[in-house]
Amino acid sequence: MTAIAPLPVAAAPTHDESLDALWMPFTANKAFKAKPRMLVGAKDMHYVADDGREILDGAAGLWCVNAGHCRKPIVEAVQKAVATIDFAPAFQMGHPATFQLASELTELLPRGLDRVFFSNSGSESVDTALKMALAYWRARGQTQRTRFVGRMRGYHGVGFGGISVGGIAPNRDAYAGQLLPHVSHLPTTHDLARNAFSRGMPKHGVELADALLPIIAEHGPDTTAAVIVEPMAGSTGVLVPPVGYLERLRAICDQHGILLIFDEVITGFGRLGAPFAAQHFGVTPDMIAMAKGITNATIPMGATAVRRDIHDTIVAATERGIELFHGYTYSGHPIATAAALATLKLYRDEGIFERAAALMPLWEDAVHSLAGEPHVIDIRNIGIVGAIEMSTRDGMMGARAMDAMNACFWNENLLVRITGEIIALSPPLIVSESQVGEIVDRVRRVLRSIA
Ligand SMILES: Cc1ncc(COP(=O)(O)O)c(C=O)c1O
Repeated sequence: MTAIAPLPVAAAPTHDESLDALWMPFTANKAFKAKPRMLVGAKDMHYVADDGREILDGAAGLWCVNAGHCRKPIVEAVQKAVATIDFAPAFQMGHPATFQLASELTELLPRGLDRVFFSNSGSESVDTALKMALAYWRARGQTQRTRFVGRMRGYHGVGFGGISVGGIAPNRDAYAGQLLPHVSHLPTTHDLARNAFSRGMPKHGVELADALLPIIAEHGPDTTAAVIVEPMAGSTGVLVPPVGYLERLRAICDQHGILLIFDEVITGFGRLGAPFAAQHFGVTPDMIAMAKGITNATIPMGATAVRRDIHDTIVAATERGIELFHGYTYSGHPIATAAALATLKLYRDEGIFERAAALMPLWEDAVHSLAGEPHVIDIRNIGIVGAIEMSTRDGMMGARAMDAMNACFWNENLLVRITGEIIALSPPLIVSESQVGEIVDRVRRVLRSIA
């Protein structure tokens, strides 16, 4: 009889075991638990760490706290709502505030996108958009239009739809290829060789939109349901669209009757100084997926806005009963709705988008002042977003950026976001001019210290 090999004896834990039960999302769990970075409070531009330090928020949490933390009008609206109506079924029942929120959103959205469906996250708002695209073509009798076109280095959340159209290999590889069929990808617009250190939109790369043409030619002109892109790709390192690129994509989609979806989960709600990036870039898609800043991240919420005729076509195709077999228990949840209404009012009352727009030139200069610091190979910016790309140390992708994030947090009391070898900056839009200087000075010291 062969002996069963004993299981390896677990090494003695080197960390606080009370952290073990939580499986953290998109986190190196072992490394985190060995040296946890804990946040216990937040107000305006700062977090409070568990050791009492004030951490300047250079990332708006996760690109989402656009009006700053724990803002009183939002807190009070949530408190009032939770004591008034904790939950209302979203199916076959209505809650007046949710209708009001949909109407208010249409005032911010590009003209024509005036039908809104609620969900709870960016991932859900993206999957909702993809399903609506398929339902639309089916309603029009074009059932062969099932192909989606995403883009390399696109991030569209973690649903099976989102990872299929997304262009990030590690987000897909773990799942044994069980993805949506009929998906193609455009090349990324990131082109360091031609565009490094561009201020705002890079000059080169409009022709990359033409990569849609061979995809259309290969699969037949009338098989593509929709193209989905982030107007500015945030999560994969602040990839700003080249001049003319989005217009070209729009034109090709129009020529071939293909729907264009903008994933504005990061760019929505003032990040580029306009309500949506669509308005900033002057290109109107057929659908917009949004989340994050819709409630200033206070309560989870997502939404998908579509052109009125897309909605009308789907609704008209069913004579009686439910027109779209889709929805979430918490679609338009009353507390999230209250948070969103208070957030939109705060954005209006404080002119937060206009404020961001006015700050953009100063932000651009500040971020680009980091050019020339050790290991910096590119600086990018658009709206109140910046990226510092560094060279990779000894083939260890991401190690330098991880050191930078830790040094920012532990030594400089600054929260930044990293991806690959890129430090991404996207502070709340209430950031003051002197805080912009603080953020950049702290990053500069970190770049020098980790050199
Ligand atoms: C462009 C984009 N789409 C979708 C998502 C997913 O959003 P969520 O994490 O709320 O599901 C994100 C999250 O960062 C995002 O940046």
